[in-house]
Amino acid sequence: MSSLFQPFKLKDVQLRNRIAVPPMCQYSADNGFTNDWHQVHYPGMARGGAGLVIVEATAVSPEGRISPRCTGLWDDAHIEGMATIAASIKAAGAVAGIQIAHAGRKASANPPWLGDDHIAAQDPDGWQPIAPSPLAFGANLPRTPKEMTLADIERVKQDFVDAARRALAAGFEWLELHFAHGYLAQSFLSAHSNHRTDQYGGSFENRSRFLLETLAAVRAVWPDNLPLTARMGVIEYDGKDEETVAESITLTHLMRQGGLDLLNVSVNFVIPDGNIPWATPAFLAPVAQRIRQETGIAVACGWGIDDPLVAQRVIDQQQMDLVMIGRAHLANPHYTYAVAQTLGVKSPTGLLPTQYGHWLARYRGPASETRS
Ligand SMILES: Cc1cc2nc3c(=O)[nH]c(=O)nc-3n(C[C@H](O)[C@H](O)[C@H](O)COP(=O)(O)O)c2cc1C
Repeated sequence: MSSLFQPFKLKDVQLRNRIAVPPMCQYSADNGFTNDWHQVHYPGMARGGAGLVIVEATAVSPEGRISPRCTGLWDDAHIEGMATIAASIKAAGAVAGIQIAHAGRKASANPPWLGDDHIAAQDPDGWQPIAPSPLAFGANLPRTPKEMTLADIERVKQDFVDAARRALAAGFEWLELHFAHGYLAQSFLSAHSNHRTDQYGGSFENRSRFLLETLAAVRAVWPDNLPLTARMGVIEYDGKDEETVAESITLTHLMRQGGLDLLNVSVNFVIPDGNIPWATPAFLAPVAQRIRQETGIAVACGWGIDDPLVAQRVIDQQQMDLVMIGRAHLANPHYTYAVAQTLGVKSPTGLLPTQYGHWLARYRGPASETRS
């Protein structure tokens, strides 16, 4: 049996295989509310066989949205729509996860297909972003954020706690804290974006504080038997990678002690011009493996791990416990099934709902004049 299609158990939750659909913003919500788009999109991918489907970066407060079209969990009224999504993911045999997020200085942006840039300050659709320090990201996101007060920091931590409670009420069984990609938490951690002189800036210990305190506060309300995970950038590709990875390993140790069950290893994206090796398949796998080995925590990782043989190899070589396959699932929501077929998994149609699997077990693919 392919290692990629072995079950994976974390706390009381079992995934049917090692393939996860990572969070992918759909920029299709209204005032944080999900709608028909999300109700079709998420179960569609779960029906394709993935072990875990993580709902997109969902804002813990209106100001924490990347764009005005991001999903939210800042209001109890958001729970109902999310509950329908979680239930339909589970009904398809996948575990339902969700990523909760605050976009920090990258907030108040247009959706990618409308520019991916900051909404103009005078535009009523936008808002004032907040961040650890009044430093703009640059490039397409030039707006200078407001420096957070200690009261702002307390409020945002509470927003994470409240959103976690709502995610649980909606039926999600896997929670991912968004500590990556240059958003709020990652910008506390990085010295590029955090120039504070109080207890939340300066030393590594101080730059880690917001992340550790948020984790502790959420762990206190998220059930012990369910996975609490984080996606964190562990490398910036800015020429100081050894130092950043070493800090990330120390922080992962601390987060593990603080109740973190799995780290989704990613890139920092705190600076706009990192030298990221995009062309190398699974370029993050070696660093994921190092974190897994040195901290003993379970690790997920994505970015260019969509080739079936590469995905199988990174699991075979124990570089990670789960592979995150994103865009290939947008291209084909049944991509996990396609991977199983390619790898010669026995009875791959078992991954699909009976309504599809029954017919496809005897189906040879589209009729073709060249088919032998
Ligand atoms: C449309 C889209 C939206 C994304 N939104 C998120 C998100 O909400 N949270 C997140 O952590 N990453 C997000 N990402 C990054 C993906 O989770 C994933 O890491 C990325 O697509 C690389 O994996 P791939 O090479 O398999 O596509 C997004 C990517 C895409 C393409």
